[in-house]
This record gives sequence, structure tokens and C-alpha cells, in this order.
Amino acid sequence: MEKNETIDYQENLIPYTHDQLVAKVQEKLDDKRFQHCLRVEKQAIELANENQYDPEKAAIAGLLHDYAKQRSDHDFIKVINDKQMNPDLLDYGNAIWHGVVGAEFIKDELHIFDEEILNAVRRHTVGAPYMTQLDQIVYMADYIEPGRDFPGVEKAREITHASLKKGVFFQTQQTLSYLVENARPIYPGTIATYNAWQSEN
Ligand SMILES: [Fe+2]
Ligand SMILES: [Fe+2]
Repeated sequence: MEKNETIDYQENLIPYTHDQLVAKVQEKLDDKRFQHCLRVEKQAIELANENQYDPEKAAIAGLLHDYAKQRSDHDFIKVINDKQMNPDLLDYGNAIWHGVVGAEFIKDELHIFDEEILNAVRRHTVGAPYMTQLDQIVYMADYIEPGRDFPGVEKAREITHASLKKGVFFQTQQTLSYLVENARPIYPGTIATYNAWQSEN
């Protein structure tokens, strides 16, 4: 999105105008990550329109998806403990936490309680066996936004524009392959997502 291009929120899904929400996200992120969030917002609108989903809700979830990305490990661990979230989460790190736990920061600091939006944030990193259309839109918008440049991104874009669900499987498969090849730990949720989305192969 061009910086001067504005979206008017009309559905009262959250207690902010678009400009206000943009400012709140910008405040918590460095410029590189903030620009990524603006591109995910725009990409989410496009995917929503392609899939007959509400573009306003997709825009909000896309803009917010990495809201907590730059919090310290200490901050995440405190939330996991204070809110008695699954202690297995402590075995992972920012890559998992900023989605699954990040939604808590959105509730507590921004007072946004729309569970569909929060779930899309929670599920954007590892997906889930069951994903709503909004979850799928944010998961894929994050992966294929125009700033992404990795081997296979063009294929990912092609697949996703043809079928959002096939895109979800493709991304999950690519992520798992990458983690295995690089001997990185795998969050069990990622495997659950992969198995559940097999039928979209
Ligand atoms: Fe993220
Ligand atoms: Fe992201």
C-alpha cells in the first residue's frame, strides 16, 4: 500500500480508525517490519476479495499479525507464565510466540477482542488443523506479500491465487522441509497442520 492510501473502517470491528491502528502498529515495530505489515494488509485484502471474504476484517488481521514480533523473550515468557498458557510453549521461541502468544498483547494493549482476528494472529506462524478463511488469508498473505523473495515464492503465489487451501498446504510443506533440512526444532502444531491439510495436496 502506498503510504498515503487510506482504508476507511466501516464495520466497527475495533475501536480505532485505520490511521490510528497503523500508528499503534508502527509504534511497536522497526520500519522494515512495519512496512512488511502494510504489505500483508494489502495482500490480505486482495486474497479476501479473491475468496469472497470481508476485506476489512482481513485488512485488520493482516496489519496486526506481527504486532508482537519485536517483544523480548522475557516479555513473552512472562505472559506465558502469568496467563498459564501451555508450558510446552517455553521450549520454543519468538518464531512461535509472536503468533500464539502475540494475540495476548493485542488484547491487553489494544483492547481488541474479536476472536476471529485474534485467532488469525495466533495461527499465522504454524497454522492449525482447522483454519477459518480469515486464518488462511493471513497465513498466506504473510507468505506471499510482494516483499517476499525466496526460492519458490512465485510458485507459492500462483498456487495461492488459484486455491487458498492449496496454498496453505504448500506453505506448510515448505516450512517443514526447511526446518528439517536446517536441523531446526519443529513445533508439534506445524506437523498437525501438515497432516490435516494433506487432502489439499
Ligand atoms: Fe509473523
Ligand atoms: Fe509476518
